[in-house]
Amino acid sequence: MNRRMFLKAVPAMGLLGVTNVSFSEDANTAQPIAETDKVSLEADGVIKLNPPDLNGEISLMQALKKRKSTRDISDKKLTLQQLSDLLWSADGTNRPDGKRTSPAAMGIYCVDIYVVLPEGVYLYDAAKHELKPVAKGDFRKSAGMQDFVFIAPVNLVYVFTLRNPKDSPAPSPVPEEKRKIWGDVEVGCMVQNVYLYCASQGLASVVRGMVDQKKFGETIKVKPEQIIVAQTIGYPK
Ligand SMILES: Cc1cc2nc3c(=O)[nH]c(=O)nc-3n(C[C@H](O)[C@H](O)[C@H](O)COP(=O)(O)O)c2cc1C
Repeated sequence: MNRRMFLKAVPAMGLLGVTNVSFSEDANTAQPIAETDKVSLEADGVIKLNPPDLNGEISLMQALKKRKSTRDISDKKLTLQQLSDLLWSADGTNRPDGKRTSPAAMGIYCVDIYVVLPEGVYLYDAAKHELKPVAKGDFRKSAGMQDFVFIAPVNLVYVFTLRNPKDSPAPSPVPEEKRKIWGDVEVGCMVQNVYLYCASQGLASVVRGMVDQKKFGETIKVKPEQIIVAQTIGYPK
């Protein structure tokens, strides 16, 4: 299978365990799906995520009570709706001005989320609520050092960027050291959002400092020190 075929066909089939893939124009208006439902892919391999399902079953207080780290994670795939909701919880756009579910100092979003699926690595585009393909193949061994990482259906890797305010070409007035601290705080918020989403859905999750920063950095073409932490998500065993 060549790269074009991979980008077009493999990602959604593999990551979601689907058997029925279609190329629909109206991905963003799709209703919540089950594992065998349709998955929308752009011709360039971009995965269009579903709008968030805002009808959670449990209260925030109950989710907080259930929040915990779980490492006994099965290889069962998430649905596209679950993956969509997970990423929206982490850092999705929740207001018309483009601001997000996680806060960011001065509104400078300086953390990218890389999504490691069994078939490839994707970059989450919050503004478009979609996943852009970055590398094909199974990179779970670079995304962690613990056995559960290698079989889990989803691993998120949080990566610091030195993006300028509002993408301005001018240098930021804030020193890099300070921005790095702010980035760490931003990631902390994302991680907790994901924990709470997982707690609310009966999914398992654990944040991890153990990432092969050098290897994963090479995969996504960033410096090792830009990789902050990772988080594994899946069904509990
Ligand atoms: C910054 C950070 C890094 C962590 N790194 C790892 C890790 O590499 N592997 C792991 O299994 N757990 C890791 N954890 C999870 C902690 O072990 C866990 O949060 C702690 O034992 C408390 O358990 P709880 O999350 O269930 O409350 C990390 C937690 C944090 C906050």
